[in-house]
Amino acid sequence: MFFTLFALYFIIMKKQVTPYSDSDKGKKEQVAGMFDTIAPKYDFLNHFLSLNIDTIWRKKVIKIVSAHNPKRILDVATGTGDLAIAALASNPDRIDGIDISEGMLTVGKRKIEDKKLEQRIFLQLGDAEAIPYADNTFDAITVAFGVRNFENLQQGLQEMLRVLKPNGICVVLEFTMPRKFPFKQFYGFYFKYLLPFIGKIVSKDKSAYTYLPESVKAFPQNQFFVAEMANAGFTQNSFKSLTMGIAAIYTGKKC
Ligand SMILES: C[S@@+](CC[C@H](N)C(=O)[O-])C[C@H]1O[C@@H](n2cnc3c(N)ncnc32)[C@H](O)[C@@H]1O
Repeated sequence: MFFTLFALYFIIMKKQVTPYSDSDKGKKEQVAGMFDTIAPKYDFLNHFLSLNIDTIWRKKVIKIVSAHNPKRILDVATGTGDLAIAALASNPDRIDGIDISEGMLTVGKRKIEDKKLEQRIFLQLGDAEAIPYADNTFDAITVAFGVRNFENLQQGLQEMLRVLKPNGICVVLEFTMPRKFPFKQFYGFYFKYLLPFIGKIVSKDKSAYTYLPESVKAFPQNQFFVAEMANAGFTQNSFKSLTMGIAAIYTGKKC
């Protein structure tokens, strides 16, 4: 009886949160399809729903990266390229960005062309779980709001470690759930009801902004994500909570 209950608990806890619960496609395919659908509205919704706080968080990520004077940066799950563009502030020779959503990359490439940055930022289709670069290529790796969407988190983290140079730094920005009363309750309401409502109307995707809070809740946060980084082989791992605990920046190094 005890073992049956334990097995059941384990299966439930391990069940992946996917965008479309009625789809028989794998998480990766669903995620790519979902971001293809919402890509034209993604930037607007991102800044609108976060009251532009995401811009401040990205600057914090780049400040950490800049302290390492990176020559080459890889932005994993780059989407429409906002973090890759922000990374120019650290003055690297070259920034590469990979993503599995063709739709998000199309928007990102257009922005890069408009800003005449094609000689410095290179976006291409690529899976975080099979990164299309050689071992020890990058001085810094960044990921913003991407790791939560990976089908296999450990595989993605290990791939990032593989392409990072020794002494290189990996900086991850991801949503977390606030824990303190009364902000926890206020944000819980916003995240569970208001955000999906606005997201659905603007993006025209009925699931994307329901998947967001569900995937955040199910994802390892704070010290639990630090443990995932350590498990993948990163060292000197740490995290810093942002904006009353609605996001966190994680850093880890390759020794
Ligand atoms: C919430 S968006 C974040 C985009 C961008 N980093 C930003 O800060 O706005 C998540 C992105 O992760 C991408 N993604 C999910 N799984 C991925 C994987 N295995 N490899 C590469 N990109 C992935 C999605 O296609 C999507 O563009």
